[in-house]
Amino acid sequence: EEKEMLERFQQYVDGENKVEPKDWMPEAYRKTLIRQISQHAHSEVVGMLPEANWITRAPSLRRKITLLAKVQDEAGHGLYLYSAVETLGVKREKTIEDLLSGKAKYSSIFNYPTLTWADIGAIGWLVDGAAIANQVMLCRTSYGPYARAMVRICKEESFHQRQGYEIMMTLAFGTPEQKAMAQDALNRWWWPSLMMFGPSDDNSPNSALSMKWKIKRKSNDELRQEFIDKTVPQAEYLGLTIPDPHLKWNEERGHYDFGPIEWEEFYNVISGNGPCNKQRLDARRKAHEEGRWVREAAAAFARKRAMEMQE
Ligand code: ACO
Repeated sequence: EEKEMLERFQQYVDGENKVEPKDWMPEAYRKTLIRQISQHAHSEVVGMLPEANWITRAPSLRRKITLLAKVQDEAGHGLYLYSAVETLGVKREKTIEDLLSGKAKYSSIFNYPTLTWADIGAIGWLVDGAAIANQVMLCRTSYGPYARAMVRICKEESFHQRQGYEIMMTLAFGTPEQKAMAQDALNRWWWPSLMMFGPSDDNSPNSALSMKWKIKRKSNDELRQEFIDKTVPQAEYLGLTIPDPHLKWNEERGHYDFGPIEWEEFYNVISGNGPCNKQRLDARRKAHEEGRWVREAAAAFARKRAMEMQE
């Protein structure tokens, strides 16, 4: 009977139908969605930290307002995504506990430091650019609540990408010192941005099932290539050099060829040993403790309201 259910589920997904929270789904489907969506939520929340570092030092009031709005958007994305995880039957408290204990993963990219203002430009341009490449396909993911959250998130990500590219334009077309800052940020963020897409397809243990069930609609390598093809002309327009001597247009493939990725660095970062992993988790733990009284007050208020409703 289980086999029949699985077949029916596959047909349903193959027919481009959305799976909703109360529908039957294979346990492995539920499990991998909980894994991916919670990691995604954590990434949004931890992702606020490297940029928040620059809010008070943004070079003008306009830049400050824009960055503040962007960082607030990331918090909102985290909240939609924690809600999406809850539809799969896991409490968000448990999900957050897994982040704070170091058990859950979040995107490798947020374990790198933001050393100069140009890093804020590079993050918007490259990191949010990579996030969009990955998340546009997730608007068509088979799980309804995740797909719907992604539509709004992608709209906001496009604004983030543009604010980043606009900072890069200002710097790249500015003084020689500003241009050098932009180049330095590109040098440091390029390779980690390519790693965001995850291991290459032949080393990606979750891909086979996720593709079969249409959770992922494009493979890690396909998306990485799309991102590179889209970004190279943007770097050329800025007059900046991508730090990859092997980068070259391949007429036959219709894509850019690129040099080897340092996977050792990637695995090192995702196992907790990147340059800022400890700092990021410490900051999240501190924020969680400092917010405890707010959560308790909100819960007490909700209980009081529920009692009043009964009366
Ligand atoms: N950072 C941290 N961990 C990663 C990364 C990364 N960049 N890429 C892959 N991994 C982890 C996977 O989570 C998986 O770990 P797990 O099995 O312990 O959970 C392992 O490496 C192997 O990778 P895959 O089998 O390729 O995993 P998966 O099929 O889940 O693909 C991907 C990874 C592409 C990141 C997918 O999970 C995804 O599309 N997630 C949603 C998007 C997302 O999370 N974006 C966050 C950054 S964007 C932003 O927040 C602005």
